[in-house]
Amino acid sequence: MQRFTDPAALQAWAQAVRARGETIGFVPTMGYLHDGHISLMHIARPQCDHLVVSIFVNPLQFGPDEDLDRYPRDESGDQARCVDAGVDVLFFPTPPTMYPDGFQTRVKAGPLASPLCGASRQGHFDGVVTVVLKLFNLVQPHVAVFGAKDYQQFQVIDAMVRDLNLPVVIQAGPIVREPDGLAMSSRNAHLTDDQRQQALCLSQGLNRCEALVADGEFDVARILAAARAFVSQQPLADIDYIELLDAEHLTPIDWLQRPAVLAFAVRFGATRLIDNRILSP
Ligand code: PAJ
Repeated sequence: MQRFTDPAALQAWAQAVRARGETIGFVPTMGYLHDGHISLMHIARPQCDHLVVSIFVNPLQFGPDEDLDRYPRDESGDQARCVDAGVDVLFFPTPPTMYPDGFQTRVKAGPLASPLCGASRQGHFDGVVTVVLKLFNLVQPHVAVFGAKDYQQFQVIDAMVRDLNLPVVIQAGPIVREPDGLAMSSRNAHLTDDQRQQALCLSQGLNRCEALVADGEFDVARILAAARAFVSQQPLADIDYIELLDAEHLTPIDWLQRPAVLAFAVRFGATRLIDNRILSP
């Protein structure tokens, strides 16, 4: 596995690969890799000649009061996991090389970035699409794979790719969970034992609502009330949002008539967890 830290060197590598007519697959991450990240590498691996993974905790997508400084990191562990997953190139840039003095340009995400995490994390998605566009310009992938765990992030990136005519195919990989249902996340490492136990209310709340819909409940207010009541039973759970929105436009609905996304963001102490499920009538 080759390792690059210098953006220009990585870009020169990508240009040479493309000049030879070979293909590049890409999985961008912020590291502290778990099986959710690895699953995306397995999806990309058979579709390309060269698989690139980036590890960059992107300061632009963190708000001033967020967990940038305590975001978990494990450089050597991540490197070993990438070797095991058949990664060809690991890109490990630093903030000053990605955002040198004088850096001033931003991509502005559209209305898909307004609800859910966009409402509780101001500027977050502008930071995400800006770094993803920079990474695409450096890695020059033919295909890039993102997780359905960050459903809104995928929608916002998908819109950017369409809106700006980016020459890349993006794909979504399914949410990977712990055996007991908790969606894998680098932030799970911060949970205390009690918080970890109570965090099951996200996946179980989603299951509960899915079962309600299967039983014929299509009234959004009632589904949301059930979800909020279920999560609120856990004393350590502090709901950031629980919403059910049109899956394509992320706009409010009051009756389930077409696919919708049930999205949860719940805080346990300083740790904020998200999960989601697509519900169809
Ligand atoms: P990060 O949170 O490290 O996630 C990297 C990729 O892994 C994202 O596409 C995310 O959706 C996916 N992922 C995380 N947990 C997952 C799970 N349990 N199952 C399946 N996929 C999962 O998302 C980011 O980093 C950043 O915002 C990034 C896109 C790299 C831009 O900085």
